[in-house]
Amino acid sequence: MNQPTILIVDDEEAARLGMRRALKQYEAAEAGSVEEARFLIAQYRPQLILLDNNLPGTSGMEFLHELAGQDNAPQVVMITAHGTERTAVEAIKAGAYDYLAKPFELDELRLVVKNALEARGLRAENARLKEELAAIKGSGELLGASEGMQKVYDLIAKVAATDITVLIRGESGTGKELVARAIHDKSAGRRQGQFVAMNCAAMPSELIESELFGHEKGSFTGAANQRKGKFEAADGGTIFLDEIGDMSLTTQAKLLRVLEERKIERLGSSHSIPVDVRVISATNVDLEKAVEDGKFRADLYYRLRVVQINLPPLRDRASDIPMLALHFLKGYATKYSLQCTGIHPSSLARLTAYSWPGNIRELRNVIERSAVLADGATLQPNDLPEEINTTAKPAEQPVIIGDGDILAIPYLDDFREARKAFERAYIERCLIETNGNVTRAAEKVGMHRQSLQQKLKDLGLTRRYVVSEEELDEAGSA
Ligand SMILES: Nc1ncnc2c1ncn2[C@@H]1O[C@H](COP(=O)(O)OP(=O)(O)OP(=O)(O)O)[C@@H](O)[C@H]1O
Ligand SMILES: [Mg+2]
Repeated sequence: MNQPTILIVDDEEAARLGMRRALKQYEAAEAGSVEEARFLIAQYRPQLILLDNNLPGTSGMEFLHELAGQDNAPQVVMITAHGTERTAVEAIKAGAYDYLAKPFELDELRLVVKNALEARGLRAENARLKEELAAIKGSGELLGASEGMQKVYDLIAKVAATDITVLIRGESGTGKELVARAIHDKSAGRRQGQFVAMNCAAMPSELIESELFGHEKGSFTGAANQRKGKFEAADGGTIFLDEIGDMSLTTQAKLLRVLEERKIERLGSSHSIPVDVRVISATNVDLEKAVEDGKFRADLYYRLRVVQINLPPLRDRASDIPMLALHFLKGYATKYSLQCTGIHPSSLARLTAYSWPGNIRELRNVIERSAVLADGATLQPNDLPEEINTTAKPAEQPVIIGDGDILAIPYLDDFREARKAFERAYIERCLIETNGNVTRAAEKVGMHRQSLQQKLKDLGLTRRYVVSEEELDEAGSA
């Protein structure tokens, strides 16, 4: 026998046979009791269990609770006796994907099975992304498997082996500081020395110079004691000069000399001290233009950019977004003990479509805020901030924004078309909440499942929430 996808657990042989026939396109195994089921699950790892509640010995419900505590447990559809709605509710609460009340139609069974297996596939996909994420750690804490990032990793590896001066460029939040640290951490010799960062923005020259080069006691007002500068602290290691474009021309002149002579002089001293430091600088301003405008020295510019690493903006490497989003979500879920540990595929689609002007820093903040505020176990589109829902690409233009409201329904002149648009938004909204579970959605909106299925078909939503048109046709004609 091939690996069974489905395990049918029922003590009545006729019932098992009926289900098996209806599901003949799947590989299925049968068990007459929980004891037997345990054995078959351990052996075959089926993806779905059709579990009758009424079993001799251990009941289906008890077994469901047992499974709920296990890693990678199969999806469960509970089969309950007619008129035992409370058991069904209890089963869903205990983690069953859905339930079927006896007697049920065979096409009902097929639909539930298809949906459950599809949902299981999504869960597996999320798990796979998480594993991939752990495996594709590019360079230190740097993440991303896109082509753009692969180029960055290659450059990091090449320059790390040398003492070459590196200029890192990229928009705000693209990871410039992280890349600088990665270069330091990968430098065999310099790793033992210190990585010293200095932000050159928004600080008077005198202070920057004293920070960089140190000063002697009394060298300027406020210099009460002798002090070593960052270049000395980074001796044998790396100095990272962030926002280099904001440095004043006088400080630029001093820095240039240090780079040429590999010696520093503390402020107020004429004694020069040799330093062995690798210089990495970073900027998000247009340095070429600053040179043209006379705000940045051309000679310093050439000296700093011996090798240049350009960090691509996040929107140009959108394929990295799911991985990064899950990485940040995992981190915050642990940090704040959150329930929310997964991301719904529709949310991923929206995150991927957004333009991220603040790049990875913005993504991290969005995930933190959304995860903390989310109610469910997966981040739903309506958990995301409005700007992400409203600026997503037209193809993915969402219908749902805000707290539970349905907004952004297009205005249409034709009344019937407008009503369809509303129905589509309304039903889609409900299905997102039930994770695509048609049975639960039907209950929620007070419709019969069959009618909701027909609605889905009429509204063209079947491809997303029911597996295929054939399936529906089959369900309709059975
Ligand atoms: N490739 C990446 N993988 C994982 N996290 C990243 C990556 N790039 C950046 N980050 C995270 O994004 C945030 C911003 O990164 P960083 O501070 O290095 O950006 P920056 O380019 O220096 O930004 P700014 O120009 O605003 O100073 C940090 O929290 C960093 O850890
Ligand atoms: Mg920075």
